[in-house]
Amino acid sequence: MNEQERQQIYNRAKNWVLEAGERIRTKMDQPIVIETKSSPNDLVTELDQETEQFFIERIRTQYPDHQVLGEEGFGDEINHVQGTVWIVDPIDGTMNFVHQKQHFAISVGIYKDGVGEIGLIYDVMKDCLYHAKRGEGAYKNDEKLPLLPEERKLEQSIIGLNHFWSIDNKLVHKEGLQSLIRKARGTRSYGSAALEFAFVAEGIVDAYVTMQLSPWDIAAGVILVQEVGGITTQADGEPITLLDKNSIITCNPAIHQEIIDEHIELKT
Ligand code: IPD
Ligand code: CA
Ligand code: CA
Ligand code: CA
Repeated sequence: MNEQERQQIYNRAKNWVLEAGERIRTKMDQPIVIETKSSPNDLVTELDQETEQFFIERIRTQYPDHQVLGEEGFGDEINHVQGTVWIVDPIDGTMNFVHQKQHFAISVGIYKDGVGEIGLIYDVMKDCLYHAKRGEGAYKNDEKLPLLPEERKLEQSIIGLNHFWSIDNKLVHKEGLQSLIRKARGTRSYGSAALEFAFVAEGIVDAYVTMQLSPWDIAAGVILVQEVGGITTQADGEPITLLDKNSIITCNPAIHQEIIDEHIELKT
């Protein structure tokens, strides 16, 4: 991908995200079919599916040699990251979409040979687009986001957390997360992993910690966070993998090691 191609993909992807968001806003007050997937709390709507198809049709028409991985399964079965791969979460925060009609996002990450090149997270109801191209910083609409502060103490940090992980669960010992909750200045739970990443990139949340996310939840966010000097790893500090589920800590590097060493004990 040369720079001209990269810029063209960036521009197109941004336009598609904005157009897809406009479609959601137009259709969301009409009756919407809501179904469940793996559990009664795992919701999917016809707009999740339509929005994913919207992206896939456009990507396949413009870029037939690119691969697409989408949450709702209309994309390709992907087992390698060679070439250009689009990773699409058509609506991240479907539960918020259904119950609150706000606080949900479209997330698109574009990778070349496994390297994150372009990340887009669109807060649809706020009409706010977080976007980044590798090496060129991250933006919130037209405003360039500053680098994260070099000094940050956990005691002065706000931590994004899915509260589920601080009660009995299969993946992590709850005591560590409970002590993190006690130590941090405050915790938040927004219900959209993509938005939580965007808030870390914006510097309004200092870390987002969760034990299980899919590639489409994180693909755009890791690029945005990286572009402001943040770090994203699995909860044990290992690098994330692009095609599997991951535990996630994305944060200001100043508090990364302390969270891992003192507050996270995975059940192996
Ligand atoms: C979900 C949201 C939520 C996170 C879940 C995700 P979806 O994505 O990002 O915040 O806690 O793990 O599955 O299903 O609404 O796209
Ligand atoms: Ca879902
Ligand atoms: Ca998601
Ligand atoms: Ca989704």
